[in-house]
Amino acid sequence: MKLSVNIDHVATLREQRKEGFPSPVFAAFLAIQAGADGITAHLREDRRHTQDEDIMLLRQTVRRLNLEMAAYPEIIDFALKVLPDQITLVPEKREELTTEGGLAVAGNEDKFTPLVKRFKQKGILTSFFIEPDTDEIKAAKQCGGDIVEFHTGKYATAFLNKDTAAAEEELERLFSAFETAHEVGLRVHIGHGLTLENIKPFKGNALIEEASIGHFLICDAVLEGMQTAVYKMREEIL
Ligand code: PXP
Repeated sequence: MKLSVNIDHVATLREQRKEGFPSPVFAAFLAIQAGADGITAHLREDRRHTQDEDIMLLRQTVRRLNLEMAAYPEIIDFALKVLPDQITLVPEKREELTTEGGLAVAGNEDKFTPLVKRFKQKGILTSFFIEPDTDEIKAAKQCGGDIVEFHTGKYATAFLNKDTAAAEEELERLFSAFETAHEVGLRVHIGHGLTLENIKPFKGNALIEEASIGHFLICDAVLEGMQTAVYKMREEIL
């Protein structure tokens, strides 16, 4: 399973103060150095974390760039200029803290089919971020999608709440969706709420090509780096 590291929350920290640091692009560089296979960044309509300039710099520095975005005309135009390797289409609500659910592809084939075609003409792969649902998988295929990223958020929440029955049930839905997606010829990615602990059931599953992980990695990086940061400041002021 490959790992795409989502660096949005480094940009969240920067935007909190708007003083230019920490740099999500430098975080991406460090992630790649540590073995990440690619970088994901979500350009939101309200630009609350990642900015256009970050995406342009990432394009110049990262070999496998996945741009997460909602299908807004302005963002589509930007994406077609920047040319990421992959676009992951997600739903987006202004007030949400993070992407809350999967995209409704079924019923919106007329909207997504020409869009996927435009991306394909520019050599960009299209991934649909969806719930583990057969109708959504079929719709993603019908629209010409290359990849489906299954939303693991419900499973992650059940795991966090120690609701074993709900976690098991959601895992079964996910595993069955992986099979269906594979059968119709879609590549399988997973993402949302994944951690060192809850990723274990997915380990070794040959159907999963990639996991996209952000929040947990950025949180872990903050805690793992705390001692070094304090030692460095102590050294300086001693
Ligand atoms: N995949 C998609 C499509 C997402 O929207 C997100 C959240 O930005 C992630 C993966 C990463 O989720 P998390 O930050 O919970 O690891």
